[in-house]
Amino acid sequence: MMKPGAIWLEGPGCWEGLRTWLEDRDPDGVFVLTDTHTARACLPVLDQRLGRDRAVLTIPAGEKGKTVETASLLWQALANAGAGRGSVLLNLGGGVVTDLGGFVASTYMRGISFVHIPTSLLAQVDAAIGGKNGIDVGHVKNLAGIFREPDVLLIDPIFLETLPQQEWHNGLAEVAKHALIADPDLWRALEGLEHPRDISQRLLSAAVAVKRMIVAEDPGESGLRKVLNFGHTVGHALESMALAFGQEWPHGEAVAAGMQVEAWLSKKLCGLPAAEEARIRIFLQRFFPDRPVPDPESCLSYIRKDKKNRGGVIRMALLQSIGKAIPVVEVPGDLVLAAMKECLGETEPRG
Ligand SMILES: NC(=O)c1ccc[n+]([C@@H]2O[C@H](COP(=O)([O-])OP(=O)(O)OC[C@H]3O[C@@H](n4cnc5c(N)ncnc54)[C@H](O)[C@@H]3O)[C@@H](O)[C@H]2O)c1
Repeated sequence: MMKPGAIWLEGPGCWEGLRTWLEDRDPDGVFVLTDTHTARACLPVLDQRLGRDRAVLTIPAGEKGKTVETASLLWQALANAGAGRGSVLLNLGGGVVTDLGGFVASTYMRGISFVHIPTSLLAQVDAAIGGKNGIDVGHVKNLAGIFREPDVLLIDPIFLETLPQQEWHNGLAEVAKHALIADPDLWRALEGLEHPRDISQRLLSAAVAVKRMIVAEDPGESGLRKVLNFGHTVGHALESMALAFGQEWPHGEAVAAGMQVEAWLSKKLCGLPAAEEARIRIFLQRFFPDRPVPDPESCLSYIRKDKKNRGGVIRMALLQSIGKAIPVVEVPGDLVLAAMKECLGETEPRG
């Protein structure tokens, strides 16, 4: 059962809003979930603004913490600390902390209140918005989870001041995706960017607005929300393929490569003008390193396992133009292979 949408706190007065909400709620315990990095970089900022007692639970940083084992430790830690149904969990971190914290809060005592305070660019524009919470099981990302909106979502760019370089790039890939699927003005602004750190409050809010608008129209992911998969069908396959070889392909780079391939497919199948495909490629190559894919056939085998496919047919979200996406397009396997060879092969020319 979906809860109604979160109380949205952004911009001046957002902390006052959270303090007031907590006073009204009068919780029997306030718990903050951090990872080892956000405990150091973000907790002091939160404490200064919250000004009240809280207990802190800290998990190891990174995707490796998003497991049922960590969830179980957190349920036990909450119980040991006397958390009751009137307690509140504040999730202070990137997408790992918001996904896991939302899942733990939604299941502890059949659900306690939780607040998302995303601290990475990716979490602020994407992961914390839309009510998807979950954990990885084995090598499968987000295999177990639940749709549940946080009670409050607070977005403050102050946290981005300590964000490492790589994480800016991971977030930029999602900001670019939001522009490409729904906001041509945002796209033009991004084209003028020198460095991901130069993303202004206005551009950040525009990227947040895209995700917010799409999930508001399709909270249960039955149609429109699938446009958010643009670049991710190929991107996820690249990440999985790298993992199988014991390597890691950073999420932002994988999605950027995926967007290049899927833009090329959009040109072939959906009428994306060649000039727009070229602009997309130039932008992505400027911010993300070229990484040739040595074995496109192997990557195709991962794309064939994508959960969006039906009856063995590959399905992707593609672009009609910059700012306009089509949620589901059936794509022949041999064309996907050709696209990968064109965009991620060792040679330069493109058709
Ligand atoms: N629920 C959704 O709709 C959704 C959407 C997209 C992604 N996700 C999930 O989000 C996760 C990825 O999120 P992410 O990229 O934020 O990863 P992350 O949570 O691992 O954060 C990336 C790194 O940045 C650090 N960090 C975060 N904020 C910081 C700050 N302000 N200062 C210093 N360091 C900071 C973290 O400790 C971590 O080391 C994945 O698990 C993915 O599945 C979920």
